[in-house]
Amino acid sequence: MPVRDFTADDLEGVLALTRAEGWPSYAADPARALRALTAPGIATVVAEDDGIVIGFATAGSDGEIQAYLINIAVAQTHRGKGIGKALIVALFARTDAGRMDLVSTEGADAFYRSFPHRTLPGFRIFDADPRKIHH
Ligand SMILES: CC(C)(COP(=O)(O)OP(=O)(O)OC[C@H]1O[C@@H](n2cnc3c(N)ncnc32)[C@H](O)[C@@H]1OP(=O)(O)O)[C@@H](O)C(=O)NCCC(=O)NCCS
Repeated sequence: MPVRDFTADDLEGVLALTRAEGWPSYAADPARALRALTAPGIATVVAEDDGIVIGFATAGSDGEIQAYLINIAVAQTHRGKGIGKALIVALFARTDAGRMDLVSTEGADAFYRSFPHRTLPGFRIFDADPRKIHH
């Protein structure tokens, strides 16, 4: 399954994947999502099957040492075929970082454990009460 750089033409496909996961932030404002996926320092890659976007991953990086995985999703119909792994490998290549940190939901633990890794305690902090703002 080819993995390549995201382009604006992939936006609808990526939004469909985020909607399927019940993630509101991207689909709520597609123009904002496009800016987020293509911002300076951000690498976004997609996997395609027959012209359909069936996976995407996006990471931020300092370009030297440290990357942060922002999001990854593979269509339910295409899971367990190595696509998620290929997306992460592509992000490592594009971010030029040797390590990638992330916050994870429990459902994806087995996926992240399949990579060389350390587990560390983590936090997600907000600039305001998260119940009062839309992230
Ligand atoms: C997590 C996700 C991206 C994995 O994508 P995928 O294409 O199915 O993963 P891969 O097929 O590349 O799997 C890579 C490895 O992880 C393992 N793995 C992936 N999902 C697994 C699961 N649910 N249970 C056990 N192992 C799993 C695979 O066995 C494989 O191991 P191997 O390399 O030793 O063979 C995909 O399940 C997904 O989109 N989930 C919903 C969205 C989500 O949770 N995103 C992460 C938010 S933190």
